[in-house]
Amino acid sequence: MNIQALLSTHFQTAMHNAGADAHTDPVIKQSGKPQFGDYQANGIMGAAKKLGLNPREFAQKVVDDLTQTKALQGVAEKLEIAGPGFINIFLDNAFLAKSVQTARTDSHLGVSHSQNDTIVVDYSSPNVAKEMHVGHLRGTIIGDSVVRTLEFLGNTIIRANHIGDWGTQFGMLIAYLEKFEAENGDNASDMALADIENFYRNAKALYDADPDFAETSRQYVVRLQSGDEAMLAKWRVLVDLTMTQCQALYDRLGVTLSPKDTMGESLYNPMLKGVVESLKEQGLAVEDDGATVVYMDEFKNKEGEPLGVIVQKNDGGYLYTTTDIAAAQYRKHTLGADRVILFTDARQAQHSKQAWGIAKMGGFVPADFDMVHHTFGMMMGKDGKPFKTRSGDTVKLADLLDEAVERATALMSERQSELSADEKQAVINAVAIGAVKYADLSKNRNTDYVFDWDAMLSFEGNTAPYMQYAYTRVRSIFAKAGVASDELTGDIIIRDDKERTLAIKLLQFEECLITTAKDALPNTLALYLYELAGVFSAFYEHCPILSAEDEVKNSRLQLADLTAKTLKQGLELLGIKTVERM
Ligand code: ARG
Repeated sequence: MNIQALLSTHFQTAMHNAGADAHTDPVIKQSGKPQFGDYQANGIMGAAKKLGLNPREFAQKVVDDLTQTKALQGVAEKLEIAGPGFINIFLDNAFLAKSVQTARTDSHLGVSHSQNDTIVVDYSSPNVAKEMHVGHLRGTIIGDSVVRTLEFLGNTIIRANHIGDWGTQFGMLIAYLEKFEAENGDNASDMALADIENFYRNAKALYDADPDFAETSRQYVVRLQSGDEAMLAKWRVLVDLTMTQCQALYDRLGVTLSPKDTMGESLYNPMLKGVVESLKEQGLAVEDDGATVVYMDEFKNKEGEPLGVIVQKNDGGYLYTTTDIAAAQYRKHTLGADRVILFTDARQAQHSKQAWGIAKMGGFVPADFDMVHHTFGMMMGKDGKPFKTRSGDTVKLADLLDEAVERATALMSERQSELSADEKQAVINAVAIGAVKYADLSKNRNTDYVFDWDAMLSFEGNTAPYMQYAYTRVRSIFAKAGVASDELTGDIIIRDDKERTLAIKLLQFEECLITTAKDALPNTLALYLYELAGVFSAFYEHCPILSAEDEVKNSRLQLADLTAKTLKQGLELLGIKTVERM
């Protein structure tokens, strides 16, 4: 149910009937305060101004038209002109009751599959032979939540895990793998996998210290790039080792990426030569000191001179930017994307502007092709500095999750519970992983955020444990009542204010999801769920359920049921697991 869209359609027609042009936007907003109705039309004044009419008079015309055509009969109980020309909209209780009923019995909770774009979402995108660290955590979980939400709204998502699986470092890594295998025999891959970060570090150290090794490395890059099978085989070992490890983390985190989503940089190799040639032919790229460079008007240095973007180095090698130009083309023309969404941290903002700017300029994608880069801030420690281990190293994701489980175990052991050992372990895992993810998802991604164990593992405030517990509280009502959700029948009756507030909040789920997806801000959804839990608590305090007489009890149980379902579904879209008891 999208009340906002429903009201918008009718108001638009009425405004048109009252003289405004057909595309005038009524700007229907959820109204924050009950005295201003449930929704408010804010576009009346602007439309009146355009027509040279007095806003209140124009508002009256709109209200008259809506009354005459009975367009909102059964939806709005009352329309009220207020202030300089707002129209406050008070929804009809019977309409709310009926809508809640529909949502409750619908497997999709009444949310329409109204969107149907094919969207390539580029997220997570770790690098081969470098373990995923906390820096990749944000993009992975924010991206995954946005992907889930976009899919729920009806879109087709192509997940693109744009892993860093190509580049000059692979000569060194292959040479080191060869040496490592010679020294470690059959166990080599297991050992390399156990600490792939260390493997990379040792390779780099040897490269810097040993000229012979460095020379071999350089030869190997050339052989790899010319498609030498022996080199490619070793390269594949490195890619597979890394991705096995990443997949284990995705599974542990409950992230929906799988091996088939991997579309690394190497995929675009065959396209790069063509990209550069085409840019040259079009006169967009020029030779500069042996390198091939594109100058764009948008990019200037401090002196106001155009800043060049290199697409091919003087040794013939291609760059990260070249790959992203090819990737844009591939996503549009081969994958058939209607649009592209990219998640990486804010440091790559300039990069995507350049790559996509060139992709459009060179005609690799249409100039109006919709590509957006959603960036995010850094994960900070409580000391206000970038999140690091005590010794100053980057924190490995696997270690972070181990610590989360340890802390969640301690947290849950303080609580009384009648759960079996297995149930308890399931709760601990859900809380641990949920806490880490929710701490991130509940904050606006645009700002840095402070990683704080105590805050995220608290049962108070907008945290995973609080939300998970709120869900179990609603479910416990059903355990006490001894009825199952699908046994509930009969009408929903909305009389009490608290019932009304809860019903409206529940019906705003779709509006919330649309905004969450549009802005790629999962914190909008997290806040909605937190507020929903609060609205439910207020309802439950004032409107007894189990002790109410049958008709009322049955109605309130249905409201509780849709609350539980919405909390569960919403948390699932955030990628947070729920449990039935805690
Ligand atoms: N591998 C890159 C990194 O770790 C992120 C890639 C993002 N995607 C892209 N198409 N550039 O920073």
